[in-house]
Formats: sequence, structure tokens, C-alpha cells
Amino acid sequence: MQPILSVRGVSKTYASGHRALEPVDLEINKGEIFALLGPNGAGKTTLISIICGIVTPSTGTITVMGHDAIHDFRAARSVIGLVPQELSVDMFETVLASVRYSRRLFGKAGHDAYVEEVLRDLSLWDKRNARIRELSGGMKRRVLIAKALSHEPDVLFLDEPTAGVDVALRRDMWKLVHKLRAKGTTIILTTHYIEEAEEMADRVGVIDKGKIILIEQKTELMKKLGKRQMLIALQEPMAALPEALAEWHLALEDDGATLRYVFDAQAERTGIPSLLRKLAEMGIGFKDLETSKSSLEDIFVDLVERKEQAA
Ligand SMILES: Nc1ncnc2c1ncn2[C@@H]1O[C@H](COP(=O)(O)OP(=O)(O)OP(=O)(O)O)[C@@H](O)[C@H]1O
Ligand SMILES: [Mg+2]
Repeated sequence: MQPILSVRGVSKTYASGHRALEPVDLEINKGEIFALLGPNGAGKTTLISIICGIVTPSTGTITVMGHDAIHDFRAARSVIGLVPQELSVDMFETVLASVRYSRRLFGKAGHDAYVEEVLRDLSLWDKRNARIRELSGGMKRRVLIAKALSHEPDVLFLDEPTAGVDVALRRDMWKLVHKLRAKGTTIILTTHYIEEAEEMADRVGVIDKGKIILIEQKTELMKKLGKRQMLIALQEPMAALPEALAEWHLALEDDGATLRYVFDAQAERTGIPSLLRKLAEMGIGFKDLETSKSSLEDIFVDLVERKEQAA
């Protein structure tokens, strides 16, 4: 299948000299919901801003529905809707006028029924004649979404759609996302939250320090995130891992004082009872056992390490 969006070798070094993005390759399929997951400063907004033509890339090319996003900016931009992370709306306009204006900006003929549908979906219809400055922060965010949808984009970018948003807006947003996807809209969102990626996305990209660490189907990623680890503090340090323990793929750490066992918490058999039996059999004593779930931080570290080992 021809991807709807294709990013090739896109990198960014800001004028300050800050390297925000290492070269990124990314392809998004039509109708897909893709979540870009990463901590503060990872480069999520930079990447989205480049694709939407707000930030100029230092290297690389982008095509959106066959349009070159840099040389044919207008054509590419006309099929894109962007809900930015920061609030940026004309405070003195009314809601309705602002959304209609956004649509006209893209050269689309007026379509009152469509605009009404969007405003209703976002629970903004009753507020259509209010000036934007009179709205609460959450409602302003809804206006940004309505504006991004005003020209019926094929690809919608949502930069941190649920940051600082209440439960009602979050619920409206998810409903809207599902409705849009049913109509064939492709959606790319950024988030800090694994849960959000889990709930929304078909595919997840993890980005850290300007590098895309992995891109994977959500189901595959969730399997990895289901990993837990057990640390076994040994009574006597070991010089090397005994061959008899090979099947558990343990790591010997802390100058031989700790065994680390990584297991899949969702698996029917974790391998823990058999491992402990084996240790007893071999007369290997331990002082303490500790199991922990990988945190987002651990997962990033783990992914980066694996990536570096593979390279
Ligand atoms: N205009 C700019 N000039 C210089 N550096 C910038 C600029 N914009 C962003 N940066 C830097 O680039 C890096 C990536 O920023 P970016 O906004 O893309 O991160 P992010 O993943 O969106 O973070 P957050 O989760 O906080 O929104 C950061 O270190 C940031 O300080
Ligand atoms: Mg951001």
C-alpha cells in the first residue's frame, strides 16, 4: 500500500545549535492512528511542526498524499489539519466565525452543515456566537480542534491532545477520533502517556532525545511493556553464570552479587518457581528478592540499550 505520509531523513538543528532531531524515516498508512510517544523535549513537536510546514527541516524530504511538503507546501498543507500543543487563537473572533475563517483559508467553499457537525461533535455549538476570549481553556482547545477540522483534512495531527484536559473533553476527543477514523482520516498524535498510546493507536513510535527508538504495532509494543524483572540479591557473589541456569537468560550484575531475571508478566508461566527451585537445588542462597514493573523511564533506557547493542 502507498503510504499517505512519507518522511525521509528529516533532521533538525535549531539556530541555537540545538540538535532536536536526528534523521527520521517514517511512513504512515492511510486510515492509521499513529502515536508518537516520548518524554518532554524528545522532539515530538519539532517533528510534527516540520511535517506541517511550520519549522524548516535541516535535512530530508516529506511527501503528504504525493505532495512535496517543502516545495509544494500549499498543496501538502491543504490536506493536513493541525491541533497545536500551544493555544493560539484569535481571542476577539466568535467561535463560528473563526472556524469558518479557517476553512476559507484553505480555499474551501463554505459548508455550514459540516461546520455545524464539527461544532456539535465538540460540544461547541451552544457557544458558537461567543467570543473566544470568553471561553475556558478547555473550550479554547476545542476551538483549535474545530479549526483544524474545518477544511476536512485527510491527515490530522494532534499535538498532546489531552494535556491539561478534563475527562469530558478527553471523552469527546476519543469519540471524535473514532468517528474520524471511520471516515478514513489518518491521525497522528503525540503523548507522554503509554496508556493513551495503548488506548488510541494502531502503531506507536517511541522517540527520545531526538531519536526514534522504535516503531511498532501497538500489540507488539504492549507485549514488551508487559515485561517485569526480578532482582535476586545473592548471599555469595558469583564469578560467572552457571551453565545450568542458561535457560532463564539471566544477567549477572553488581560484580556478581545480583541476578536479574526479566520475564513476561502476562505469560502463563513466568519461570519464577522453576528458577527458585533450581537455585535451591544448586545450593545458591539469596538474601532478597525484588520484582518490579518497568516504568516508562526503564523502558526508554532498555530500548536505547538494546538499540545500541544491536548497532
Ligand atoms: N525554536 C526552538 N529553538 C531552539 N530549540 C528549540 C526550539 N524549539 C524546540 N527546541 C528544543 O528542541 C528540543 C525538542 O523540543 P520539542 O518541542 O520538539 O519536544 P517535545 O517532544 O514536543 O516536548 P514536550 O513533550 O515537552 O512537548 C527541546 O530540547 C527544545 O528545547
Ligand atoms: Mg511538544
